[in-house]
Amino acid sequence: MGYKILLSPSGEVFDAKPSETILEAAIRAGITIPYGCQNGSCGSCKSKIISGNVFLEGYQESALNNSELSEGWTLCCKALATEDLEIETRPSVDDGLRNPIITPVRIEKLEKLNHDVMKMILKLPGKEALDFQAGQYLEFIMKDGSRRAFSIASRPSDPLIELHMRLIEGGKFTHFVFNEMQEKTIHRIEAPLGQFYLRQSDKPMIFVSGGTGFAPIKSVIEDMIESNNTRSIFLYQGVKAEEDLYMHEICELWKKKYSNIKYIPIFSDPNEDDNKIIRRGLVHSAVMEDFQTLSDVQVYCCGAPILVETAFKEFTKKKSLPENEFYADAFSFSPVKPTS
Ligand code: FES
Repeated sequence: MGYKILLSPSGEVFDAKPSETILEAAIRAGITIPYGCQNGSCGSCKSKIISGNVFLEGYQESALNNSELSEGWTLCCKALATEDLEIETRPSVDDGLRNPIITPVRIEKLEKLNHDVMKMILKLPGKEALDFQAGQYLEFIMKDGSRRAFSIASRPSDPLIELHMRLIEGGKFTHFVFNEMQEKTIHRIEAPLGQFYLRQSDKPMIFVSGGTGFAPIKSVIEDMIESNNTRSIFLYQGVKAEEDLYMHEICELWKKKYSNIKYIPIFSDPNEDDNKIIRRGLVHSAVMEDFQTLSDVQVYCCGAPILVETAFKEFTKKKSLPENEFYADAFSFSPVKPTS
């Protein structure tokens, strides 16, 4: 038994089995629905139910907030049809986002940034450059068809693509990158993907970064600097200890050179002799301490799901951040689909 899914406005129809998500059914039918993380954390697959009902599996509130849920929005990567449906998907090209392409890339350079973060530089064939929005990510396509997602750390005008990869315990791909991958080898990627990018506004921006969550934030800030965008920026960079901090000098330089950029590094679990000048605590708590209200800012949060979820809940519930002014890119670290 299956259910008919009608997509609006395209009019495309496909069948969904009761055991598969709407996104899985659409992919099986060769139909394009915008998507990113496939695990209910990025919001890229958000669609509106026009008629019918779904069963929604676990997802992150930052990807679909309660008011959106009550207005009939759902996440196709987490929704299973329980009857025939009509849903309205968002256009796959939105806010200037480009359709993703699958392309070969060459590994130009591998360079360790600290004890467990690797910088990888990629080059597209010939003189091609990737057309993307600062903050988006790409996926490596493995020989077995599985994928590994990493945020792009370089700005769109850079001819080369920069990634930051943290060594994941038990993560096959990152172990391969750290121990076996060779420069000048060719791999396959799909890009650009994701909905984490700068939203136009005059409001101050608070970037909340955990670990390599710094990568897409670096891309956005470098892009803003290049385009002389002088919006007020507060960059909170959370890591466990000093040995985990990387590209600290670049952030210090931004702070020194641009009066609109404030940089606040934070150690959550420092070693005894770590730099005493650097603040201690949790990165989202530091924002809570520094801002009486978040009612008139935009927050861009990138890191582990627990950071994104906690920041969303605390900022919206305790500091009056409007739910639609929280933009997130949550990393998941499952062995199947780890992200940077
Ligand atoms: S693809 Fe569905 S929430 Fe990310």
